[in-house]
Amino acid sequence: MKRVQDFTVIETQWLNSTSYLLVLGSQSNIEEIRPGNFAEIKVPDAADVFLRRPISVYDVDHQNNTISFYIKAIGKGTIKLGALDNGSKVDIVYPLGNSFNSIESGNALIIGGGSGIAPFTLLAEELKEKNSKVTYLFGARTSEDIVLQDEFAKHGNVLVTTEDGSLGEKGLVTQHSVFNNITDFDIIYTCGPDPMMKAVSKIAESNDIVCEASLENMMACGFGACLCCVTPTVRGNECVCTEGPVFNSKDLKW
Ligand SMILES: Cc1cc2nc3c(=O)[nH]c(=O)nc-3n(C[C@H](O)[C@H](O)[C@H](O)COP(=O)(O)OP(=O)(O)OC[C@H]3O[C@@H](n4cnc5c(N)ncnc54)[C@H](O)[C@@H]3O)c2cc1C
Ligand code: FES
Repeated sequence: MKRVQDFTVIETQWLNSTSYLLVLGSQSNIEEIRPGNFAEIKVPDAADVFLRRPISVYDVDHQNNTISFYIKAIGKGTIKLGALDNGSKVDIVYPLGNSFNSIESGNALIIGGGSGIAPFTLLAEELKEKNSKVTYLFGARTSEDIVLQDEFAKHGNVLVTTEDGSLGEKGLVTQHSVFNNITDFDIIYTCGPDPMMKAVSKIAESNDIVCEASLENMMACGFGACLCCVTPTVRGNECVCTEGPVFNSKDLKW
């Protein structure tokens, strides 16, 4: 059930110069979270960051009442969140949005770039529980941007591309050799920059593979009131915060 909940910063773990894991803890139980759900996080004590920031749930621990977020520090809000001291109070509205449809006993390819890797630990965990095989393909500019590989490797095989060739295959994600045998996969899940997701969707559609894309449109209210997050679909304009963020790529008009 969607609600506002008070949390305390347990730990901020910087992974490289621009991204970190923010672990928040609560006195009360954590709501059930589906892979792909996100939270609207209020940046505390920041008069110049008025709106909550939408961030996907990276992980959740119901035994210890903790929830974690993988965050790229790109602007005022995400930089301030990364600078909070342990023990700081943070309130979040969650769980928001729809979720990925995980398949049973299938072969899944998960493609992420930038902050778009965040929703995929929970998805891969669920896919593995349903006896599906998981392959991840992560794309970045350079090796420094590739993080958390060991965590992802717990649930699947991790492939990497970097634009400068410093890790994995050199090039863009869509140039990776995994695409030579793309019809081996039953489904593709993707999250990251729009051009990457569009290119991935195009390949999926031309090979008749279902593709689910999680959009990261700019948001304000997070609950369908302000319409600032709409995306054109075959059904008309839809709010990414309530009808998404996960869409079947065939439904998107991009
Ligand atoms: C459903 C959803 C899930 C998301 N999950 C994550 C996540 O797990 N981890 C994560 O790091 N980020 C995630 N994002 C993106 C994150 O919300 C933005 O990066 C954040 O709001 C930027 O806030 P800021 O105050 O740091 O930057 P601002 O100071 O507001 O902006 C800095 C720069 O970033 C641009 N920007 C702001 N928001 C976005 C956006 N949504 N997409 C692209 N560019 C943007 C601005 O135009 C500006 O140029 C998600 C977004 C959505 C909609
Ligand atoms: S963010 Fe306000 S309608 Fe989606």
